[in-house]
Amino acid sequence: MTREEIYARFEETDKNASLGGGVDKIEKQHAQGKKTARERIEVLLDKGTFNELDKLVTQRCTDFGMEKKKVAGDGMVTGYGRIDGRLVFVYAYDFTAFGGSLSETNAAKIVKVQQLALKNGAPVIALNDSGGARIQEGVSSLAGYASIFYQNTIASGVIPQISAILGPCAGGACYSPALTDFIFMVKEQSHMFITGPDVVKTVTNEVVDKEELGGAYVHSGKSGVTHFVCNDEDETLMTIRELLSFLPSNNMEDAPKVACTDDIHRTVEALQTVIPEDPNIPYDIKDIIEPVLDNQYFFEVMPHFAKNVVIGFGRLNGRTVGIVANQPAFLAGVLDIDASDKAARFIRFCDCFNIPLVTFEDVPGFLPGTQQEHNGIIRHGAKIVYAYAEATVPKVTLITRKAYGGAYIVMSSKPTGADINLAYPQAEIAVMGAAGAVNILYRNASPEEKTEIVRSYEEKFSNPYRAAERGLIDEVIMPRDTRYKLIQALEMCQNKSQSNPPKKHGNMPL
Ligand code: HXC
Repeated sequence: MTREEIYARFEETDKNASLGGGVDKIEKQHAQGKKTARERIEVLLDKGTFNELDKLVTQRCTDFGMEKKKVAGDGMVTGYGRIDGRLVFVYAYDFTAFGGSLSETNAAKIVKVQQLALKNGAPVIALNDSGGARIQEGVSSLAGYASIFYQNTIASGVIPQISAILGPCAGGACYSPALTDFIFMVKEQSHMFITGPDVVKTVTNEVVDKEELGGAYVHSGKSGVTHFVCNDEDETLMTIRELLSFLPSNNMEDAPKVACTDDIHRTVEALQTVIPEDPNIPYDIKDIIEPVLDNQYFFEVMPHFAKNVVIGFGRLNGRTVGIVANQPAFLAGVLDIDASDKAARFIRFCDCFNIPLVTFEDVPGFLPGTQQEHNGIIRHGAKIVYAYAEATVPKVTLITRKAYGGAYIVMSSKPTGADINLAYPQAEIAVMGAAGAVNILYRNASPEEKTEIVRSYEEKFSNPYRAAERGLIDEVIMPRDTRYKLIQALEMCQNKSQSNPPKKHGNMPL
């Protein structure tokens, strides 16, 4: 062969491989409003930075006539590139080839980038759109999933792992996303379920469609499986880029510091009046969070699930912080099972990746009742205290109003290892609210006597000063000064160095 022929052969091979399952399948994918795997990667990464690996890999199955069906790449596009100039690894299921189903060979492609990402300390992004285990391959496909799950687990806490669900995600395929740090879904396009509607009908006789069973709204609002719901694929891919801007590339680095264009001394006069004079009137905790962050920008995570707790990222003086906050505007900010799970997992993520935690606290307690007790609020609520206590990143807590009972303890109180506890003058820090306390201590008192005792209890305990006298509150601050006070506390902790006793791992209540 001449040199020209050799090059022409390569170009022809590469061009054919770029077509995945072929033009017809690409058109079908487009007709469903979906991009192909390579088009998605093109949008996700910085222009011209994608290096595809294993583009010519084919499957080796010989059952069901599969030996005659070879598609270069085998329904998977893998490689590395850049987001905002930073290295990332990516794998994208190519639905145009074998429905993006998982084979022994394309599982090996995924494992290859997972291992490269781990060795090189860079995030992995998975773009899922797949019919699940490749049925023709049987256990070889299942073993492929198993090796992906293994890598997901080993990489957990070392590099950020992000999953986007851009089509079906059925069966065991759900467990790789579930093992990653953040899941994105597209409304009406993404579905995740362990078994689809047909199997559900066969096994339980329940009739349900795929949207109601495992659509984006179900997983963002009810199950808490997914963290973000986007309107379309492009928005999903852009939001992944933004999420990464808050994160370090691995657990040995700090998150990127961006130039702060917002005055760190900026006072926020509106905070003086944001908390209603009547302690029983709710307010929106985001009216405190947003104004104090750099450029008043808060990147909320899981906004639709367990709204009584708010979590997300922001920046203070250009540095990423993880925000955990009670939300008095939803269920009075009470802690329940879902809120505990949501907060604890986020706290652990931040601790894995050296992101300081800022906690805004206004919590009347844990939600009482049989529903919560029977479903294990004790076990779930314990996760929050465990997550905060083991976290060694800087931890700053601001009590804006209520901090009662066990809920006070678990929300990063001073004795559980917080570095700084601040409080507004409105803070109420006590074992329980006045009425509850008086009913227990003065059960037999007359209503008039009770009213008087409640008043005196409130005067004594419904303030931050008892706690401040004992050093449990480091500083009582004016609401308007919140931004600068938080920045100073975090900068004081910037070189914090703390480690827990050596152990294989703790035994967190799950
Ligand atoms: C092999 C598959 C496949 C699979 C789809 N295809 N799923 N091939 N194995 N699992 C092929 C189809 O045969 C078809 O091939 C092409 O992909 C496109 O599929 P369609 O059905 O035409 O597409 P669509 O109508 O959009 O439906 C998509 C779908 C459906 C909803 C995903 O294909 C489906 O229900 N697939 C099976 C889902 C499933 O039950 N998977 C196993 C889950 S159990 P042609 O040649 O016609 O284009 C599992 C166990 C893992 O994953 C356990 C790990 C622990």
